[in-house]
Amino acid sequence: MSDQGNNSNQLADVASDVPDDTSSDAATSSNNSPDVQPSTPSDATASEAVVPEPRYPKRPNRNADSLMEVKKAKRTAPSKQAYKKRECLELSPWKIQLFSSEWLAGVCLRSVHDQSQNRQISEEAKEVVGGILRKVEDKNCYSYVLPIETPLPESDSFRGMGPVMKKYLLAEPLKAPSKKPNVAPSMRMNYTGHPYLNPETATSEQIVRLVMSGIPVYEEFIHKNNKFLPEGDTELVQKEIDFFVNHAGHPEELSNNGYLPVAVYKVKDNSAEEMEKAKKLACTTSMCMFQNLTNVIGFDDAEFTVDKMNEIAPDYEIEVLRMIPQPPTHNFITQSKVGSQKSNQWDVQNFRHMIRIKEYAEYHNKMISDSKAAYESILEHPEESESILQNLQDKLRASSLPHVGFEVHKEATVIAFGTNIDLDDEEKFPKQAENVAKFPDFLAPHTSTNILNYAQESIKGLNKPQLYLKTPGSRTDPHLENSGLGSVNHNLGPDPCLWYGVPFEYAGAFQRLMTKRLNLTHGNKLDVYAYSYWGIESDCILEGIPLQKCIQKAGDTVFVGIGTFHWVQSIGFATNLSWNIGHENAKQLSTALLMHDNYAAAKQWTLMGIETILWNMVFQKIEVEDEMKKYMRSALMRSLAKAERELQLVQKKNMNVEGPPAPEGVQVVERCMLCSDCLFNFIPWTTRREMETPSTIKIKRKYTKKYEESDEESDEEDEDEELMEQEEGEKIKEENEVQVKEEEDSLEEEEDEMSEKPICFQCIIDNKLFGEITSVSQRYDMAELEAAFDGFKM
Ligand SMILES: [Fe+2]
Ligand SMILES: [Zn+2]
Repeated sequence: MSDQGNNSNQLADVASDVPDDTSSDAATSSNNSPDVQPSTPSDATASEAVVPEPRYPKRPNRNADSLMEVKKAKRTAPSKQAYKKRECLELSPWKIQLFSSEWLAGVCLRSVHDQSQNRQISEEAKEVVGGILRKVEDKNCYSYVLPIETPLPESDSFRGMGPVMKKYLLAEPLKAPSKKPNVAPSMRMNYTGHPYLNPETATSEQIVRLVMSGIPVYEEFIHKNNKFLPEGDTELVQKEIDFFVNHAGHPEELSNNGYLPVAVYKVKDNSAEEMEKAKKLACTTSMCMFQNLTNVIGFDDAEFTVDKMNEIAPDYEIEVLRMIPQPPTHNFITQSKVGSQKSNQWDVQNFRHMIRIKEYAEYHNKMISDSKAAYESILEHPEESESILQNLQDKLRASSLPHVGFEVHKEATVIAFGTNIDLDDEEKFPKQAENVAKFPDFLAPHTSTNILNYAQESIKGLNKPQLYLKTPGSRTDPHLENSGLGSVNHNLGPDPCLWYGVPFEYAGAFQRLMTKRLNLTHGNKLDVYAYSYWGIESDCILEGIPLQKCIQKAGDTVFVGIGTFHWVQSIGFATNLSWNIGHENAKQLSTALLMHDNYAAAKQWTLMGIETILWNMVFQKIEVEDEMKKYMRSALMRSLAKAERELQLVQKKNMNVEGPPAPEGVQVVERCMLCSDCLFNFIPWTTRREMETPSTIKIKRKYTKKYEESDEESDEEDEDEELMEQEEGEKIKEENEVQVKEEEDSLEEEEDEMSEKPICFQCIIDNKLFGEITSVSQRYDMAELEAAFDGFKM
């Protein structure tokens, strides 16, 4: 007992600096177990859960009335919240590192403890371990198991965003201007704003006529309307909270603390009927969790462990993100070296470099074995827990990976988060691909129901399955999936991850809060997609942005719904498998179109080849619902008009056109070498090189070299001569291979210099590159596009 008292060292000390300690309140109300069974009958319906007075006061919907009026509306926060003011610790760099490494040691011990549930533990040890676990406990996590038949209230309403989407994307047609604009309109797509023809009834003839007269078919892009995503009705969140109170046992006194519980659905079997129910939930959720899903589909977790990856592809290079570990509620920047720092800053400054899987596995396993040894010592000598913990902190720091290309405080333990192992290489990862394919259609990356597959691409960060190797503290910053797509994330464990989610109707509010916290509100250089940051929980709650916060245990599959901002932290050792899903419906398409323009406001371009996808759906005569058709027709009308304008430009500049069809070798989606915007019907080519070599490539080379050097050292220490000879041989072979590879690389670089790259019309205009265009590939005859458009009737 006394040890535990002594043991409450730095973590407890610094915690007393918290200006407003709400932890006692939160502790009693915290619910970390997603296993609470609902008290509701399984046939509960949405309408039963309505409570008369919403406790989230309705905020003025600044988008619904006028597109032109983006006023700064005052956000009314909920009356009672889990936080009374911003939570903040202010620490010196040295104390930050103590705080960080103590948290790391605590969660490492929790990992071992959780994995050894059946151990006999002395009362004294139990108390000491309990004390350590309490200090790293995550509060305010709320999730409840609901019957899979149970949708949340108004699940068909697209979170009340339908009218907002229509206002933005299906705006009333305006009368076309009577004369040509003085300045040539942009050659880029924009999907928001008013059209000059009614997309529901327009014919290709009308479109062509307007383009020929020099008048654009739709309004120019309006930056201020797209700077932030639109905000929607805020009533639904309160209805959902009330639903959890009335039907899932969520304590009523928590119904206005600012958090929105997460629904968990236990999948019973692999039947088509069960999957249909799960699909309905995935298509309508903001964020939910499926349990037992991978068991019923016969998914083999063992094929995805760190050791398995090391066995299959030890030399595969992954990018690691380096950061200091800390509780999810805090955010000290990694490189704090001077001055005191606050724990509630949103800014993130992490480091990245490349590393081979074998080095990662060695590091990862060393952390686990050190933690196990410390845990055993504590069970044996609980009275010495303080020194054992200190010793573990030292070991974790000593065994961390080298600091490649960065410097930090000397006391810092900089963890490594292994990101993005691409599993779509079926030759290298056949069993993994086989297992990913077991996911039901609505969740699998490559199925006919995934809208992304009309572009026939497997793109990193889009529909490519990726594996993430996480040590405790590994963070994935707040983000929306590309184009607001949904995403599947399965936790293979062994430990949990902590998730935050913000429903779509609050995405704009979240973007505004982020820009405020990052001090980006001044000037015009605002780019909401250019910064790394961490979402501070108490700030979101105080701003009236409802937070979903839940624990994803090993075996749980999180489904992130359309347009949901989310951020994740591993609170133990975990491997996660993830990819994006684009469901073929109006919600998904309208979100992708809206986000296209939100990217455009930040001068970025969507990865998703929207035009290609939509035209391919038309060519393949895919049956779609009426609402989807409206969005498709609006987008296609703009796409056709843009293609006509491109043709005009190509003819005017006498460019050398190849096709239709486009010559062999032209990809289904080509992207501009300068801005990455997707190109559709006309693809200009240039040999001019403007692209910078990404900095990670330089670091990668440097780092590989460093490991080669350390490999040599360890070879020298080897005393087994035979083995040494064998290794020598292999080393020479390896060196030769490296040399050959380097030669190939430089040859490739030279070839690269000469090869043609696609470039978009706007970049040609902006950089005055008409003289540098060698040819323009044309995919379809314009008459073919026009006929397809006219055939796609409402
Ligand atoms: Fe994500
Ligand atoms: Zn471009």
